[in-house]
Amino acid sequence: MIDIIKLIQERHSSRGQFDPKKLVPKDKLKMIIEAARWAPTAHNMQNFDIIVIDDNKVIETLGKIESTISEEFIRENFEQLSMSEEELKRKKVGILGTQFPPKWRDASKLDEAIKERSPAPLSDTIRGGNTILLIIYDRRKRAPASEGDALGFLSLGCVMENIWLTAQSLGVSMHIMSAFGGVQQELRKILDIPEYMEFGFACKLGYPVSETKYMRVRRDIGSFTHHNKYGEKWLA
Ligand SMILES: Cc1cc2nc3c(=O)[nH]c(=O)nc-3n(C[C@H](O)[C@H](O)[C@H](O)COP(=O)(O)O)c2cc1C
Repeated sequence: MIDIIKLIQERHSSRGQFDPKKLVPKDKLKMIIEAARWAPTAHNMQNFDIIVIDDNKVIETLGKIESTISEEFIRENFEQLSMSEEELKRKKVGILGTQFPPKWRDASKLDEAIKERSPAPLSDTIRGGNTILLIIYDRRKRAPASEGDALGFLSLGCVMENIWLTAQSLGVSMHIMSAFGGVQQELRKILDIPEYMEFGFACKLGYPVSETKYMRVRRDIGSFTHHNKYGEKWLA
């Protein structure tokens, strides 16, 4: 039991540069995909397909796709930032602002940051990654009676976590790349994705050149659990 909790706690986002020369061995990749295969999904619909992208030429082509970060992202990202480790430690939610450009971290400069946005290539996100998994789903189907297919999306989250925990257990690092979600038409063209398949999520797997340690926080159990009714503490 301790092992699974330790694995869950140690799983983390690897946002640094990956070593483009160090490949994820095929047997490990197979285990990671086996974990995805066994993910729980609503009605066991298994509503996903996975495109394994490990051809350098394809990755290079993807890396050249440019996208501009949305205004929405810059504004809503700001709401989640802590400007110091002390602040993050106190808040226990969100992320450290230091990984973003200075203007993104200053409420009075957000308008300026938005005006100055320019397209950036996906290679800025891929950063040396040589194995990318693109998880797509069939938008013609939905979990029975699930409004907006919320249950279908939850299922993709289960796939993500199975992939991530298995990668972690195999010593393979992982980074979710939501930037791929903003360039779906380009992905469709390059990867021949049929019109009815939608982007779910993209992640890269591999080995960071050097592990960048950053502060990871979580709320205390007592702050989000309730006992028999909302507002009654389950744990003091
Ligand atoms: C649905 C989803 C989308 C995410 N998108 C990104 C992303 O685009 N870029 C990124 O660096 N991290 C992304 N993350 C990682 C989260 O920021 C990260 O899990 C969270 O900050 C907690 O950090 P940890 O993974 O190190 O525990 C995403 C995570 C999830 C679950």
